Amino acid sequence: MIDLQQVRLSLSELEQRFARELSEAKSPQDLEQLRIKCLGRKSLLASSIKTLGAFRAEERAILGKTLNTLKAQIESKLSEAKAKLLEQPALAPVDVTLPGVSPPVGRLHPITQTMAEIIACFAPMGFEVVEGPELELEFYNFDALNIPPDHPSRETFDTVFVEAPSPEPRKGKLLLRSHTSPVQIRVMQARKPPLRILVPGKVFRPDPLDASHSFMFHQVEGLMVDDRTNFADLKGVLATFVGQVFGPSTKMRFRPHFFPFTEPSAEVDIACAGCRGRGCSTCGHKGWLEILGCGMVHPNVFKAVGYDPTKVQGFAFGLGVERIAMLKHGMIDIRLFFENDLRFLEQF
Ligand code: DAH
Repeated sequence: MIDLQQVRLSLSELEQRFARELSEAKSPQDLEQLRIKCLGRKSLLASSIKTLGAFRAEERAILGKTLNTLKAQIESKLSEAKAKLLEQPALAPVDVTLPGVSPPVGRLHPITQTMAEIIACFAPMGFEVVEGPELELEFYNFDALNIPPDHPSRETFDTVFVEAPSPEPRKGKLLLRSHTSPVQIRVMQARKPPLRILVPGKVFRPDPLDASHSFMFHQVEGLMVDDRTNFADLKGVLATFVGQVFGPSTKMRFRPHFFPFTEPSAEVDIACAGCRGRGCSTCGHKGWLEILGCGMVHPNVFKAVGYDPTKVQGFAFGLGVERIAMLKHGMIDIRLFFENDLRFLEQF
């Protein structure tokens, strides 16, 4: 006959041993060992359960309850201890020789980079950077630049007009500037010569988007005015620019052209880098690539800003930043600049 008192005694010993060993457990493995020892098939608890049948009904009820409670207590203490152990940070020492995780570093957009490069060419020649409004009035975008309302060349500057009422109706309708040239007018009206300014900025034209057209792109405008600046100065300044951006041995040419705001006017071409002037698909088999427009400021422009055209003279030029960037990097699609595809942007 098994003595209930004795079983109880050994169960309370087991309880104490469990408490001691639990406090000494240092890893999930230790806990698992302890679990097997206290609740496993060969444990005291398991063998006590097997002996239940040998007790009288009342005793069996009491002992059964004791065994169940003890089992539940051990189980919950074990899982509590396991959760605590897993919460602790890894105990392994930090290996300082392992490579670190470097945070991704951002970069400037290729257009911003090209703009900065262009400005860096002209700044040492005394050109000061000035900005003007993207929302313009007809007067500055056209009239003051010697493009009267009925002039056919207005058509060549396809323009995005804005429906809001003009703040100065005498200066015509509101529009998104179609070139940076209106800033020439604003600066000349506000200041007296001598002037050397560079105007970087966004311009807008309602062109359908394709590989070479975008409804928004960037220009850099240049203007130099004093009492003696001549076409030779214009050539010198632009040759310095071409040499720095495209390389010192780059061939260039001035080709006669027409702009309403300059007289005489020219377009500047550089020899195609793809075929060295022999002709290829990049240059349309011409051997030359147009990079900018320029000329001597038209007397009517000086008159519009209140300068005396018999006393001042100067040159102006305007270039497309996307075009320069595309030529520099051998790109054939302007849309890449505006799609924000990191696979493209990360190359710069
Ligand atoms: N504004 C012209 C355009 O958008 C570019 C230009 C040509 C600007 C000749 C000038 C210039 O200042 O003299 O096509």
